Amino acid sequence: MLKVNGIYKAYGTQEVLKNACLEIGPEIKVLIGINGCGKSTLLKIIAGIIEPDKGSVLLKERDITHLPPEKRRVGYVPQHPALFGHKSIIDNIRYGMRNGHGSEELLEDLINMLGLEGILNKKPGELSGGYKSRVSLARALAPQPEMILLDEPLSDIDAAVKEKLLPEFRRVTKLMNVPVLYVTHDPAEAEQIGDSFSVMQDGQVKGIDSAQHAFKIIKEGKLISA
Ligand SMILES: Nc1ncnc2c1ncn2[C@@H]1O[C@H](COP(=O)(O)OP(=O)(O)OP(=O)(O)O)[C@@H](O)[C@H]1O
Ligand SMILES: [Mg+2]
Repeated sequence: MLKVNGIYKAYGTQEVLKNACLEIGPEIKVLIGINGCGKSTLLKIIAGIIEPDKGSVLLKERDITHLPPEKRRVGYVPQHPALFGHKSIIDNIRYGMRNGHGSEELLEDLINMLGLEGILNKKPGELSGGYKSRVSLARALAPQPEMILLDEPLSDIDAAVKEKLLPEFRRVTKLMNVPVLYVTHDPAEAEQIGDSFSVMQDGQVKGIDSAQHAFKIIKEGKLISA
């Protein structure tokens, strides 16, 4: 279980997160919100890339707020993931396992499930966008993380390819049986991948019953009642 308690974060005078709270069990929770509302900021705080001004992050009841990213066991696919251009695909995927986490069995499963067998010796520059996304996911999951953060992992992917990738992404992340936080702007993508849904507005996060409800809230500009 991942618990985010009362997170505040300002950049200069711009207050981006104001008492953001969130709880995620072993499920895929989709986070929806307009551009610039603070979604990536929240994911970076959970991943340990930036420090919150206030608040805490608990994973399995362990306070990880001040741990460095590599000690958090987090599988993070950033908004615009960069693969190492000079390394082969297999070396890119293995990179996450360099601290000794993960196993050969899991690596093999991920490669099979994501259909990467034929491209392991290629370089990232030789891959299509869909395959780069699959490799980014495999790299994040290979060290067997205890939570998974996906920041619009398919936003650069064509609709047709996305339709094929979404069930794969869902199946593979569900297999890990850990909390997953998935950011997207696409209502259909949100419905297809999510078990539960949250909307971010005015620096806060509120759980809601469906992705459609989130988009309605955003469209109407309704304020979240705390
Ligand atoms: N390092 C930074 N320094 C200053 N301002 C920042 C920094 N990172 C983000 N911001 C600002 O904080 C706000 C929230 O940014 P963030 O990237 O978290 O939003 P987002 O919800 O992920 O947006 P998008 O949907 O466009 O990805 C934005 O106004 C952004 O310009
Ligand atoms: Mg973002």
